Amino acid sequence: MIEVKILREDFPILQREINGYPLVYLDNAATTQKPNSVIDAMNDYYSNSNANVHRAVHTLAGEATEGYESCRRALKSRFNANKAIITSGTTEAINLVAHAWGRANLSDGDAIILTEMEHHSDIVPWQMLAQEMNIELRYVPVQKDLTLDMELFEAAIKGAKLVCVVHISNVLGVCNPVEKIVEIAKQNGARVLLDAAQSAPHQEINFEQIGADFMAFSAHKMCGPTGIGALLVNDESFDEMQPFMGGGDMIETVSIHGSTYQKNEQKFEAGTPRIAEAIGWTEAIKWLNSVDIKIEHKRILESARWLSGELRRMGMTVYGRHDDNDAAVVSFLHPTMNSEDLAHLLDARGFAVRTGHHCAQPLLDRLEISGTVRVSLYFYNTHDEVVSFVNYLEEILERFA
Ligand SMILES: Cc1ncc(COP(=O)(O)O)c(C=O)c1O
Repeated sequence: MIEVKILREDFPILQREINGYPLVYLDNAATTQKPNSVIDAMNDYYSNSNANVHRAVHTLAGEATEGYESCRRALKSRFNANKAIITSGTTEAINLVAHAWGRANLSDGDAIILTEMEHHSDIVPWQMLAQEMNIELRYVPVQKDLTLDMELFEAAIKGAKLVCVVHISNVLGVCNPVEKIVEIAKQNGARVLLDAAQSAPHQEINFEQIGADFMAFSAHKMCGPTGIGALLVNDESFDEMQPFMGGGDMIETVSIHGSTYQKNEQKFEAGTPRIAEAIGWTEAIKWLNSVDIKIEHKRILESARWLSGELRRMGMTVYGRHDDNDAAVVSFLHPTMNSEDLAHLLDARGFAVRTGHHCAQPLLDRLEISGTVRVSLYFYNTHDEVVSFVNYLEEILERFA
């Protein structure tokens, strides 16, 4: 086990002070910080290897292509997938499924299953498609215990063509029973799209073993750069996808009469791709590969459980359950104090937390709230930071009592 103190040394931003206080970064579900190896690799690419990919024989083009493609290889290897389409993030990956698979394989009157726990990026693209194609959207409710109503899921699956489900909720940290969901979906002939934006950074995911058809996630939530993500696709679904963005790189031949397309993932990566970001992401994956995710996850989950207990003791409402596979995310509300005011006071002492609806308004509607304060931990957070957060929160509450 690497000591967290040593692990923190990889992240230059953690040395920062805010208003003279050490930065305590507790907003990791929004985006994670970047280790030196990621920053250095991207700098090195721009300083020494910058060129476009796939199209030239010169040395720099070769290095850029190798850098870009090494990201794809790293993704396939880490998540055990045959096809990894590089996108701008989870959002684009889900939109890609809607446009490239949905349009080609769904018809008027078909049904898609979503859950009330989805991030907006796994709701809005389907609402847009539903308007265009007259598709029915069925939402699986979230129960009082913050789990999905699996009985209603089983009832809703009949006749559905696609199930879109978030693996780990970005608000609650709850990990959904995706193996069970995939099993039921497959028994009923439905495809499954997994939103793994929050699980890919926290779990060792074996895409093939889970058996989902699509999996979307973002680099920036797993120590990689912003602006890049991926869609993993199994072979069967890949063969059913039609490109929706045309341009350079995705074609085999073009004439004035028509075009033929690449057979591999590039078919869905029209135009100059995110080369520096891919190079950075490869380093982030290497960094994650060097961490014992299970041990580190257990450690930060313990801190999250402790934090939940302390918040409840202080009279807060906590929205989370913190089971073993759940994320170290703690959403909470003070009975009277405004969340934004609280977040400003916390920021004054260097504590970075998030407030608001976290792009999950249907979930908050179900919980009958309009937002939460969210603390989300990652592997470089220490228990001492969480303790200092609790101590300062107590100070604030005493001040405003
Ligand atoms: C569960 C979930 N899905 C999707 C997204 C969207 O990710 P991105 O903005 O990187 O596309 C997020 C980001 O917060 C998320 O938490």
